Amino acid sequence: MTVVQAALCFLMIQSIFKVIRVKADTVDVCSSCHQNATCDDKTDGSGGKVCNCMYGFVGNGRTYCQDKDECQLGKICGDHTKCHNTYGSYYCTCVTGYSPSNHMNTFIPNDGTYCHDIDECSVQGVCREGGLCHNTEGDFTCSCQTGYTVQDGSEPFNPNRDAAYCKVIDCGPPPSVLHAEQLSPTITHYSSELQYSCREGFQWKGGQNSSVCGLDGEWHGPSLVCEEVDCGEPYVFPQSKTVWKNISRVGSLVLYVCEPHFYNSGRENVSVCTARGTWSRPDFQCEEIQCGSPPVLPHSVLFWNGVSKIGSVALYGCDVGYRSLDTGNMSVCESDGQWSNPDYSCEEIVCGEPPLLPLTVQIWNGRVTFNSTVTYHCKHGYYPKQGLNISVCAENGYWTKPTLVCEEVNCGIPPSLPLSVMIWRGDTKVGSSVSYKCIEGFYNVRKGDTSVCDSEGIWSHPDFLCQEVDCGVPVSLPHSAVLWNNSSSLGSVALYVCEAGYRTVGEGNVSLCNSDAKWSRVNMRCEEINCGPPPEFPLTDIHWNNATTLGSVVQYKCKYRLKQESDKNMTTCTSEGTWEKMSVTCTAYCGPAPEVPHAEVAWDNSTAVIHRCIKGHYRHTGSDISVCDITGKWQIATLHCKELKLKINDLVLINERCLRWNAENEGYREKYTVTFVGLRDFEQLFSDRRKKIFSSSAPWPVLCLNLLPATNYTITITAESTRATSTVTANTSIPVPPTPEIKYSEVEASSPTLKLWRSTNTLDPICMYQVFVIPVEGVMLFDCSSAVSPRFFAQQRCDRGYVTAQIQLSGLAAEINFTIGDQQLYGDFFNAPLENGKDYYVILRTVCQWGKSRTQSCVIWAKVIGTSYIMTISALVTVGSLSAVGLVIVMGYCYSWYCKKSSPRFLSVPILTSYTD
Ligand SMILES: *[C@@H]1O[C@H](CO)[C@@H](O)[C@H](O)[C@H]1NC(C)=O
Ligand SMILES: *[C@@H]1O[C@H](CO)[C@@H](O)[C@H](O)[C@H]1NC(C)=O
Ligand SMILES: *[C@@H]1O[C@H](CO)[C@@H](O)[C@H](O)[C@H]1NC(C)=O
Ligand SMILES: *[C@@H]1O[C@H](CO)[C@@H](O)[C@H](O)[C@H]1NC(C)=O
Ligand SMILES: *[C@@H]1O[C@H](CO)[C@@H](O)[C@H](O)[C@H]1NC(C)=O
Ligand SMILES: *[C@@H]1O[C@H](CO)[C@@H](O)[C@H](O)[C@H]1NC(C)=O
Ligand SMILES: *[C@@H]1O[C@H](CO)[C@@H](O)[C@H](O)[C@H]1NC(C)=O
Repeated sequence: MTVVQAALCFLMIQSIFKVIRVKADTVDVCSSCHQNATCDDKTDGSGGKVCNCMYGFVGNGRTYCQDKDECQLGKICGDHTKCHNTYGSYYCTCVTGYSPSNHMNTFIPNDGTYCHDIDECSVQGVCREGGLCHNTEGDFTCSCQTGYTVQDGSEPFNPNRDAAYCKVIDCGPPPSVLHAEQLSPTITHYSSELQYSCREGFQWKGGQNSSVCGLDGEWHGPSLVCEEVDCGEPYVFPQSKTVWKNISRVGSLVLYVCEPHFYNSGRENVSVCTARGTWSRPDFQCEEIQCGSPPVLPHSVLFWNGVSKIGSVALYGCDVGYRSLDTGNMSVCESDGQWSNPDYSCEEIVCGEPPLLPLTVQIWNGRVTFNSTVTYHCKHGYYPKQGLNISVCAENGYWTKPTLVCEEVNCGIPPSLPLSVMIWRGDTKVGSSVSYKCIEGFYNVRKGDTSVCDSEGIWSHPDFLCQEVDCGVPVSLPHSAVLWNNSSSLGSVALYVCEAGYRTVGEGNVSLCNSDAKWSRVNMRCEEINCGPPPEFPLTDIHWNNATTLGSVVQYKCKYRLKQESDKNMTTCTSEGTWEKMSVTCTAYCGPAPEVPHAEVAWDNSTAVIHRCIKGHYRHTGSDISVCDITGKWQIATLHCKELKLKINDLVLINERCLRWNAENEGYREKYTVTFVGLRDFEQLFSDRRKKIFSSSAPWPVLCLNLLPATNYTITITAESTRATSTVTANTSIPVPPTPEIKYSEVEASSPTLKLWRSTNTLDPICMYQVFVIPVEGVMLFDCSSAVSPRFFAQQRCDRGYVTAQIQLSGLAAEINFTIGDQQLYGDFFNAPLENGKDYYVILRTVCQWGKSRTQSCVIWAKVIGTSYIMTISALVTVGSLSAVGLVIVMGYCYSWYCKKSSPRFLSVPILTSYTD
């Protein structure tokens, strides 16, 4: 029994006790009353009691109280009611056909309820199909609707009592009419109406076309009359005949044909008698046949009066220049509406080659058509003596005959001219020539010297006159003198010579008196000698009077105090018109190389010197070149050499990575050699030996090295220029080991096999895996960094975790299967079987340890669920101070984390709550 049940029990006992206490208070006089009587105070005021029968009972109240029949009192319930007596009471109901106003089955009088008539007609279908309901006081009657008649009885009737019913009026099959057909579907009851129409080929001539089913059950109508269709006489079209069988029923045909010389211009020639009783009107019309315009013939003229009826005539003739050899030059409009083909063609008039005439030339444009012309001219050397010189292409196709006659031309002996000789070959025909020539010492002062025999038969007059030769005084040339013997006859000579200060340009300085009485041309020219501006040389001053003529002199002098290298310092203008070839070079001279403190000369070419710092000094600032300037002074180098004082002091290793030392360097870029050797005690074969060259000008140089973890290093630095050296030793720490790749799973098994994939590492010899098994109970805290490894046997409390296996990493395969609870020893730890029905978390811890330093990382490997429990995970809470937990999602389900060495590290496992039935 639960606590609640116990509490309820207590309350019941209390209430029973109370009832007993009340009964003990009553005093009995009324106990002698009849069961159906009540005990009342006496009305006499004595304070005594009396027994009275209860309502509905009569008697003395003590020995008997019997039932009273109230229904005997008459109409106690009201109209349309029935009274029902009961023992000690009564009730009322309504008679059939009435209903109580309180909507109950029964009622008692004087509660306001009365019985009213029921309207049976409010219920549909009381009188059945076709019936009409009439309500009466306490009852109802039925009669039939229009279209229905009463059957098996008479109206009015009550379906509950009588066998009478209403039946629909049906007129039976509809009547048929001659040549007509029924349109609407056959419905045969009262008031149905049927439509009729005449059949095809018949026409409605009168009467009613519908029939109605009446109250008497008979069809009224139809009275329509259908007569056969008759189209009567067909249409008549002008200029046409009808072909018709004299039948004018629906579908009868009439054919129309045009009279001769007429044709149908419409598209139809048939009329049909239609159902409407009329002939269809065909697209038919007869029109007179016309030939149109007569045909056009090439190169011809048409003679026609414009009428194109049958029998009309057109005539043809040829165009000018054309002729016809045919006779049928007529076309007639024929009865088929076509002009007859005229047998007529016009050909062009062609004359062929024109006739030839001796000793003539034809002028002809090559045309041979009618009215073409050819003109004739006498050949060269002949002249027209008589006759017509033209021929025309005539209408008959022949050229007219030309009558031109030509004769040869003759000039006779040519005339002779004074002081001349005639050169003639003796010809006297047209075009023959004679040339004339002056005798020796004379020349022709006019243009022509030839006479020609012209077509008129006369020698032409030459433009020719001979005179004696005289060249006159020879022409003078500028800046020259003429050497001449004053003779100006044929063959005289004149010589030209240039004046002083001028020179001859071009060949030919002699002129001859020619047979045309002119001195021959002289090609030479006299030009003034001019040397132009003198050459200029760098760094020189020029001394010159601006003259550029022959013999002008220019002197040069070096500028500043420069030294001239060659002796010649002057040039002269020569008769060639050029200055004498020469050159002046002026050079500066600064003396021996200048001195720079703490420096020596590295290179010298007497105009530039390169200095360099002596040993033990370095270039601090400035340029190292001295230059000899054009004024002969050294521009001394600004080089500043400083003494070298390099050291390596205070060498330290920062953050296990970077070296730093004090070089006391003032800006000199020094080369350092760094050698380092790394050894591990736990791995005899391991050695990390490296060398590094490093340059820096910093006063506190920093060099970062890629040192390996968990290694003892000896590092030595040497400065190249001062050979200063320093050594430092350092131990690098063990890094937090990487967690292996696992697949987190929740397994329901007593000895589950879990899997991990590890990555190899050089620190494997000092690392191991520890498998923790932690029961799920209450709040669990797991400290990853704890140095304690509790054993299964040494457990003090049952809810504490323990190490179930410890496995050294070196030599392990990459993939490892581990079974929880296989009862084996793993590195001194017993892999105890899991307790049935309990839940566990399996945590994998990776520990690396050497000497006093130790690092670790943890990961939840699996959750093992005991099979006999129903577990509910209520919350997964992470302790807030777990600051450096990295959550890595691998393959969706797989995750891992590790705890840093120095931070508070509590692993909170989900809090689980369990309920049992
Ligand atoms: C009293 O009346 C009730 C009905 O009200 C009846 O059942 C009963 O028998 C009567 N008692 C006696 C003693 O007549
Ligand atoms: C023939 O040519 C002459 C002269 O050129 C001209 O006057 C005449 O009208 C031409 N006759 C025809 C028919 O062309
Ligand atoms: C030469 O000519 C320059 C400019 O044309 C003039 O300045 C200079 O005086 C002249 N020298 C002499 C010596 O005439
Ligand atoms: C030119 O050179 C000669 C000797 O070589 C010297 O005597 C003379 O002074 C020079 N003239 C000038 C203008 O320098
Ligand atoms: C000397 O060397 C400088 C720099 O290279 C150069 O400009 C100069 O012409 C040289 N002088 C001689 C005389 O070679
Ligand atoms: C480094 O040297 C120390 C002192 O010799 C030694 O105790 C330690 O084991 C060495 N550590 C390693 C990783 O070799
Ligand atoms: C681990 O178990 C799987 C089966 O689950 C097997 O295929 C694999 O070979 C096992 N690996 C090792 C190293 O035993």
